[in-house]
Amino acid sequence: RTKRVGRLELIRIIYRNPLELWGEPSYNEPWVEVDWMGMRTIIANDPGLIRHVLVDNAKNYRMAAVRQRILRPILRDGLLTAEGEVWKRSRKAMAPVFTPRHIHGFASAMQERSEAFAGRYQTPGVVSDVARDMTLLTYDILAATLFSGEIAGEPGQFAKEIDNLFETMGRVDPLDLLGAPQWLPRFTQIRGRRSLAFFRKIVADTVAMRKDRMAKGEDVPSDFLTLLLKTEGPDGLSRAEIEDNIITFIGAGHETTARALGWTLYLLAEAPWERDIVEAEIDSFMREGPVPPHQWLDRLPLTRAAFEEAMRLYPPAPSLNREAVEDDRYGDLTIEKGSTVLAMPWTIHRHRLYWENPDAFIPARFHPENRGKIDRFQYLPFGAGPRVCIGATFALQEGVIALAILLSRYRFDTVSQTKPWPVQKLTTQPEGGLPMKVTPRR
Ligand code: HEM
Repeated sequence: RTKRVGRLELIRIIYRNPLELWGEPSYNEPWVEVDWMGMRTIIANDPGLIRHVLVDNAKNYRMAAVRQRILRPILRDGLLTAEGEVWKRSRKAMAPVFTPRHIHGFASAMQERSEAFAGRYQTPGVVSDVARDMTLLTYDILAATLFSGEIAGEPGQFAKEIDNLFETMGRVDPLDLLGAPQWLPRFTQIRGRRSLAFFRKIVADTVAMRKDRMAKGEDVPSDFLTLLLKTEGPDGLSRAEIEDNIITFIGAGHETTARALGWTLYLLAEAPWERDIVEAEIDSFMREGPVPPHQWLDRLPLTRAAFEEAMRLYPPAPSLNREAVEDDRYGDLTIEKGSTVLAMPWTIHRHRLYWENPDAFIPARFHPENRGKIDRFQYLPFGAGPRVCIGATFALQEGVIALAILLSRYRFDTVSQTKPWPVQKLTTQPEGGLPMKVTPRR
């Protein structure tokens, strides 16, 4: 099927909300071919085709140019935007940072930060924007696990700059869609660029401060920063790459987890019968007495299932964009050199061919006895293949710990103003936020 969309219409939609581009065929056909401004784009939904592009023939695909144009100025040679040899060396150097031992080591910080955060809902029945709250919570957790709170600059400045950056950098600039040269200023991004300069300086100073302490033989916390600095060297990362990766972890790991948490709380409130199941699991777990937080992810399978089902309906990263380096073929589909292939969690996760009742929130799909029925390539919140999310286990552990603490203490209910509309910026965001009523449970 080939669909033609006019250039101006296309730019208007992409600028406002790319999720609105996907019409009926994207949710019914194994793939859809679109001619965008003369650029061939294939929306890949078939799990076999996705496997072909992301895994079996991954060597023939690189990150799509438009995504690189938006993200590379911010993330530079961080893992998400690195290509070729730099990517290969960095991924190898960073693998030891994300081993289960280290991820488990972060669990107590996740628990402490979530508990401290839960104290903020002092007024019973207060209506709070839970989307915004989750951004603050995942920021707290990231600051604790990245730097153990040892950040250069004025207190609060770092958080403020991150906020500015995300607000302005989230949108695709029309000039990027038109392929305009990089030297032309992007008006949507001027404020963001100013923040970026401040932000980079704080990161560089923070890294230097820690390195100094390590050089003096002082005791330093085993957070991401120390672990990354230990990879510094000719076969590992350069100092600039360490800084780029700190920024990448913030860019890739903060908003994404926040969105997943917010959408989970919203969907549970809209389906109280599902919320009862999750609350019952958490309550009985909490009554058992203290269990070390690194075991919570395995011990709370129904809570995890709700989180995973929320990421099915609202995948924080809604589209994985690739570009064919050489001509390629999958069955009777020809993928010409230079075409863009979109493996889109957004359409795959709601696809009529691969999911029963795809628009309904049914966490039981991810209960342990049912997980085996889900094809690896029909559920891609963290991507797949060599470029699969390196922080997936970190994010799952964080999501389950935060949900367990929040839901054991509070009930989150929707109110008449809760009318979120999913909009694709850097992540799948609820336009209008998630105003919800928060009431203590006991
Ligand atoms: C890559 C999603 C949390 C760091 C990815 C990709 C996806 C993804 C879909 C693959 C992109 C592609 O193939 O084009 C998510 C979601 C998260 C999450 C949904 C939370 C719910 C995190 C966290 C971190 C992180 C917490 C770091 C602490 C990265 C990095 C990459 C990546 C560095 C690039 C990997 C590479 O290219 O080798 N993420 N992520 N992510 N993610 Fe995550």
